[in-house]
Amino acid sequence: MSKITIMDHPLIKHKITYIRRKDTGSKDFRCMVSEIASLMCYEATRDLKLKEVEIETPMGKMMGKELSGKTLAIVPILRAGLGMVDGMLSMIPAAKVGHIGLYRDPETLEPVEYYCKLPADCDKREVFVVDPMLATGGSSVAAIQMLKDKGVKRIRFMCIIAAPEGVERMKKEHPDVDLYIGALDEGLNEHAYIVPGLGDAGDRIFGTK
Ligand code: PRP
Ligand code: URA
Repeated sequence: MSKITIMDHPLIKHKITYIRRKDTGSKDFRCMVSEIASLMCYEATRDLKLKEVEIETPMGKMMGKELSGKTLAIVPILRAGLGMVDGMLSMIPAAKVGHIGLYRDPETLEPVEYYCKLPADCDKREVFVVDPMLATGGSSVAAIQMLKDKGVKRIRFMCIIAAPEGVERMKKEHPDVDLYIGALDEGLNEHAYIVPGLGDAGDRIFGTK
């Protein structure tokens, strides 16, 4: 059963409101998406396993805690997911980064795969799939299936804005994947865009419209 965490941190709420505004330009939009990703990463890594290690401070020996193994990977769904990578890496710099290229066919709304390059040892890593938008869920469900087909067993999904339709689909098709959501919106319009949402995340990050 998926664990669903909806962010309640005031900084995250504030920054999401900022990127929703139609007047926010690409430079600020990109910067805020990255900051939101790093704050969400902080929340989404709360339960990572730690191990005890003996270290020596300038004052003497002590037992400290560190992450048990450098076993994380970040996989953005291209294009818009790229906007979240730097923010994630600012929190977990040792993570490897894979890329999955998918776009949503505007007519059928089905995801079309065009790229997949993953760390060679991705099946041994805990993978954070990142995409700012979870709308119908088609893209994220397909991306997670691609990872599972490569043997990845531990997957978390992070998005900035989700529609209830996408959340339901993810829960049904990947009940083993925990979801970290910045804000849960009302639903989808007739073109399967999230309302109120923020428009087309990829276009807003890269200034393509
Ligand atoms: C957007 C978004 C998600 C997808 C969400 O990407 O970044 O990947 O749509 O919609 P879904 O949940 O209905 O699949 P898009 O297809 O616009 O591609 P882009 O990132 O290249 O702009
Ligand atoms: N993709 C986006 O970028 N925005 C939406 O609202 C839905 C899909």
